[in-house]
Amino acid sequence: MQVSNRIFKIEASQSLVMAARAKAMKAAGVDVVSMSLGEPDMDTPEHVRRAAQEAVDNHWSHYGPVAGIPALREAVAGYQNSITGNAIPWIADDVLVSAGAKMAIYNAIQAVVNPGDEVVIPTPSWVSYSEMVKLAEGVVVPVQTDFENRYCLTPAQLRAALTPKTRMVILCSPNNPTGSVYSGEELDALVNVLRDFPEVYILSDEIYNELAYGVVPPSFSHFSDLAERLIIINGVSKAYAMTGYRLGWLMSKNKAFVNACIRLQGQQITCATMIAQKAAEAALTGTKECVEEMRQIFAKRRELICSLAQKIPGLKFHEPQGAFYLFPDVSAWGTGDEVAERLLEEAHVAVVPGSAFGCPNCIRLSYAISEEEIRTAMDRIANLLNNWEK
Ligand SMILES: Cc1ncc(COP(=O)(O)O)c(C=O)c1O
Repeated sequence: MQVSNRIFKIEASQSLVMAARAKAMKAAGVDVVSMSLGEPDMDTPEHVRRAAQEAVDNHWSHYGPVAGIPALREAVAGYQNSITGNAIPWIADDVLVSAGAKMAIYNAIQAVVNPGDEVVIPTPSWVSYSEMVKLAEGVVVPVQTDFENRYCLTPAQLRAALTPKTRMVILCSPNNPTGSVYSGEELDALVNVLRDFPEVYILSDEIYNELAYGVVPPSFSHFSDLAERLIIINGVSKAYAMTGYRLGWLMSKNKAFVNACIRLQGQQITCATMIAQKAAEAALTGTKECVEEMRQIFAKRRELICSLAQKIPGLKFHEPQGAFYLFPDVSAWGTGDEVAERLLEEAHVAVVPGSAFGCPNCIRLSYAISEEEIRTAMDRIANLLNNWEK
């Protein structure tokens, strides 16, 4: 029996592969510190858990509307308006609730990319964008960004990548894996280029927007003239420690596009889990203190990991401005693949090789782990790198 050719076009998610290897080693009794997964280690806030429990007790156990329950779509629109001050006045109809931001991105790509259409992706980039484009038979146009520019896309790089075949540009800020946040001026400059290409959709993945340190990440949602071709992606996974609820969304003012996504989702999952939708509604309409508490914990861990990384001679990195990853260049020792492999096998620290994100010189360390684990992991990493023998 065969599986489809389509499946062999895509890679397995490297972060999941490394996490699974770390877990298997742990199960076999090895003391592994895992810095491979991109999820908060905190508990989901209590009022959100309570809402989920109440949803179970109140029988939110039936199918719901494909695009999401009205109260949640309303809450999402209100949430975005509270951030970007009605620059684009979002309403519930602009929102499609999905089973995670990942699925929202998948829907968006499937809904607009035809075979042969080009999708521009600044690299390093999150592992799944390119694979989703391949599934839509689109052409991935990776644009290699530079360490010197914090791996942010420049207007000149963007302009050079755009062609009459470009259907979509995918941007992610705060960025996974680099931790970089585009400044308002940087975003302005990119938008100026995009204004010359009115047929191109802009997919802005803002899933880490609540997790920034010392900067307020500007949103594409500030640019009202882009409204018809803008797709904003977000969700509750990262800010509210709700990865397992699988709840995210896309927003767009383009009715035809939203309807296309609704049609697609109607044939896939019908709707996101109702219990998760009720929990997400509680998250977005409830206190944001829990988000700030978690952000402060990440901010402290970020300080810690940066101070420890600075003590490793030869390790090149930028202080992350957002998300919860450090993305050092390890080319002084070898490729990211070699370093990641030896870190796991010899130092018992699981990280994700940069090749998974299109940047083979680097490794990604997630600091969504306790301070104690960060200290242990960085100690082990320093030990291996300082005594590196080929
Ligand atoms: C950049 C980026 N976008 C989207 C997602 C998907 O998030 P969700 O859990 O909402 O599917 C992730 C998760 O790792 C991510 O890092």
